[in-house]
Amino acid sequence: MPDPAAPRGAFLVALVVTALILGGVTLLVALARSGGPRSGRLLPIVRVLWLGLVGAVWVGLNLVSLGWVRLGRVGPADPAPVTVEVEAQVWSYRISNPQVPAGVPVLFVVRSADTLHSLGLYDPDGQLLFTLMAMPGMEERGLFTFPRPGRYRLRCLEYCGLGHGLMAGDLVVQGR
Ligand code: CUA
Repeated sequence: MPDPAAPRGAFLVALVVTALILGGVTLLVALARSGGPRSGRLLPIVRVLWLGLVGAVWVGLNLVSLGWVRLGRVGPADPAPVTVEVEAQVWSYRISNPQVPAGVPVLFVVRSADTLHSLGLYDPDGQLLFTLMAMPGMEERGLFTFPRPGRYRLRCLEYCGLGHGLMAGDLVVQGR
């Protein structure tokens, strides 16, 4: 399980790196604008550097954030997953298996019967665990192992019309 304080650390690092890049580029731009025989050549270099750095930071942050992705895979030693099919429709969820065991991988298979919805899963303390999209004509899959029993809440996080704010469901995770 990742350290819950770690995303804050990563965010802080991202802020510092961004500030450093902005500072460096500002300095280069100021140098280029200050005139002198080589100033004309400096601006294109600054542009390329800026683009490269922004790209590197963007890719780097995304790679680092993979550590906090909660949806996983079943390893060869893990128990076989329990499948829960969720069909989203205006404005409710049809859940094939609304009671699942804790500590066993649960495979969510999410579909939509009408328009674009999503499935945000909240733990009993109201913390968002993960989201999956529900798209007409498509199927989204995600694997999650519930660490503890309790009543978990499904909520639609994609605006889908008048009843969007009321679109919710319950999933009961039972102890073993
Ligand atoms: Cu379904 Cu918003």
